[in-house]
Amino acid sequence: MTHQECINCKAKYDIDEIIYFCKKCGDILEIKFDFKELAETLKGSDWKTKPLSVWRYRDFMPIHEAAHIVTLNEGGTGLHRSQRLGDELGLKQLYVKNEGENPTGSFKDRGMTVGVTKAVELGARHVICASTGNTSASLAAYAARAGIKCTVLIPSGKIAYGKLAQAMIHGAKVLQVRGNFDQSLEFVLKLAEKHRSIYLLNSINPFRIEGQKSLGYEICEQLNNQAPDRIIIPVGNAGNISAVWKGLTEFHKLGYIKTLPKMTGIQAAGSAPIAQAIKTNSDKIVPVEKPETIATAIRIGAPVSWKKAVNAIRESHGTAETVTDEEILEAQKLLARIEGIFVEPASASSIAGLIKLVRNDVIGKDERIVCITTGHGLKDPDTAIKQCEKPLEVDADISAIEQVLGLKAQRPTILAR
Ligand code: F0G
Repeated sequence: MTHQECINCKAKYDIDEIIYFCKKCGDILEIKFDFKELAETLKGSDWKTKPLSVWRYRDFMPIHEAAHIVTLNEGGTGLHRSQRLGDELGLKQLYVKNEGENPTGSFKDRGMTVGVTKAVELGARHVICASTGNTSASLAAYAARAGIKCTVLIPSGKIAYGKLAQAMIHGAKVLQVRGNFDQSLEFVLKLAEKHRSIYLLNSINPFRIEGQKSLGYEICEQLNNQAPDRIIIPVGNAGNISAVWKGLTEFHKLGYIKTLPKMTGIQAAGSAPIAQAIKTNSDKIVPVEKPETIATAIRIGAPVSWKKAVNAIRESHGTAETVTDEEILEAQKLLARIEGIFVEPASASSIAGLIKLVRNDVIGKDERIVCITTGHGLKDPDTAIKQCEKPLEVDADISAIEQVLGLKAQRPTILAR
């Protein structure tokens, strides 16, 4: 039977119980399947004929009925062979899995289509989250789609403008908290415990992780049913790296892939408790009290899913690395200029991490590598514009334009008829 299970003490809870932490030990939960049952279902299913998307994997999702799915057509994002960036770094096989191609411009939509579908299934009329921006944009859109109320708490002044615009236009109640993301998350956890009619959709909610695990499935299917050697992924609250790993291990267990990739988590230097724990070989993280980085999406000091993330990295023999704001911005520009892919700063941290790990000889040149870019560049236009030269202003006159372009003014030629 599919159920919810504590990642620590393995206490089991019904799939329809609204619960965010284990009642026995207080740790976080995950969804567990009966693999025999799942394999049976898959045998008689036509899932492989469906288009690449989150709901291609409907049989792998803990949702009872297909009739009430809340969707905007998420997943099925491009896995782009990145020849020029690969050549630049001397790599044989580099790919970028661009999650900015999702409906609201980030990977969060994979989790929200499943999370909000579950919310509706459970009869919730009001959903809530804390967010550094993308989660709030996505939840606001899916709540609007489902016709339910949405409240989001964001750290005041520390989210990119595009994301704020999304949450507002979709009609969410947006509260700017004078504090950081970690504090906002504490408030929504308390609110959801205290007011049981409000359903919490941060990545602590295991149904969101179920949607996001499809990212792992998709990468393997796009590589002709093979796992890459390494997946490089930005880490903030640590839900996504855990989700991708869950998807990969499920595909492995079901026999769809033969190997598993090294999970490589990248954090911003000013908010890197997980990278720190990996580097010091520690069993615990030391939360960063005042996290700072230009990559506001991953400006998180106390990642709630840190245990799952540390597990994923250790089990897969992967690693974690930190990157500075300068390295992030350089990588963002490089990717935009030589691959045509515009991503927000947090997303570019996976590229910055790749560059650093190649330079430090941690990554082998022959590895087949997938870098996940998590959110679209237009989410944060201000940071992009600040990095570029200002456009030149010219008179509305062809010779003035020719002059700035270095083109000699030519006499118009009369074409022979
Ligand atoms: N990249 C982007 C663009 C994000 O928005 C986030 C998280 C991450 C990476 C990190 O993912 O938290 O699963 O490790 N954004 C959250 C939010 C926290 O509120 O939008 P994670």
